[in-house]
Amino acid sequence: MLVSAKEMLEKAKAGHYAVGQFNINNLEWTKAVLQTAQENNSPVILGVSEGAGKYMAGYKTIVGMVNGMLEEMGITVPVALHLDHGSYDHCYKCIEAGFSSVMFDGSHYPIEENLAKTKELVAVCEAKGLSLEAEVGSIGGEEDGVVGMGECADPNECKAIADLGVTMLAAGIGNIHGKYPANWAGLSFETLDAIQQLTGDMPLVLHGGTGIPTEMIQKAISLGVAKINVNTECQLTFAEATRKYIEAGKDLEGKGFDPRKLLAPGVDAIKATVKEKMEIFGSINKA
Ligand code: 13P
Repeated sequence: MLVSAKEMLEKAKAGHYAVGQFNINNLEWTKAVLQTAQENNSPVILGVSEGAGKYMAGYKTIVGMVNGMLEEMGITVPVALHLDHGSYDHCYKCIEAGFSSVMFDGSHYPIEENLAKTKELVAVCEAKGLSLEAEVGSIGGEEDGVVGMGECADPNECKAIADLGVTMLAAGIGNIHGKYPANWAGLSFETLDAIQQLTGDMPLVLHGGTGIPTEMIQKAISLGVAKINVNTECQLTFAEATRKYIEAGKDLEGKGFDPRKLLAPGVDAIKATVKEKMEIFGSINKA
């Protein structure tokens, strides 16, 4: 059964580790992340962007697929199904479809509007026992065609959003979605520290988990980050493994064209990446 991310993240924050959110794109991806979580006794969050939701034939399809897998694969570790960077409308669509967690990304609105919409969703999610992630300060890079510059959030605005009763808060601290440019300035730990001082026990979320050096991840966890999002790294590793398989010509020989065989190296690569991240985040054996 899907669970809200609240309990797993409160435990992570108190225990000084982070739970990974791994974004899913198809059945293979989802199965790979769930298998890895179960094999490593780790809680996990499956992230779904609006674009991935559309690609996978809608939120209801995803809920059906994930619930089916939890049952048929005998998954016993805590799993949350979470809308990533949701608009106001899509939060409602996911709540209706049966997601256990949503992110409302109101960071592009003026703070008053972000506060008003987040407040409304806090009440809706609380009534249904779902977790809600809010965002302050846009996160850089490109995701689903939306490009942000990676600003640092205002800690006082973070406190205002946290005080509404959201489950977790994503705050821009110089992080960027996708690959980091060579001249990246790194994470602003000063901003993160100020945010954590003002938001107390609230689990903080680090987006753009691809390519952040391990020491920075560990420092971010020590300053209150309890959820780390990873997307691009799984995509890169999947694409690279698939490219190698095709270049080796195996898809043209024997039964190598069988999609189950063709996608298998990519699936193994995702599993390896997810396990490596779980090790770095410290979530193994924390289910
Ligand atoms: P990356 O694609 O950089 O791993 O970021 C993922 C993310 O933050 C999803 O919200």
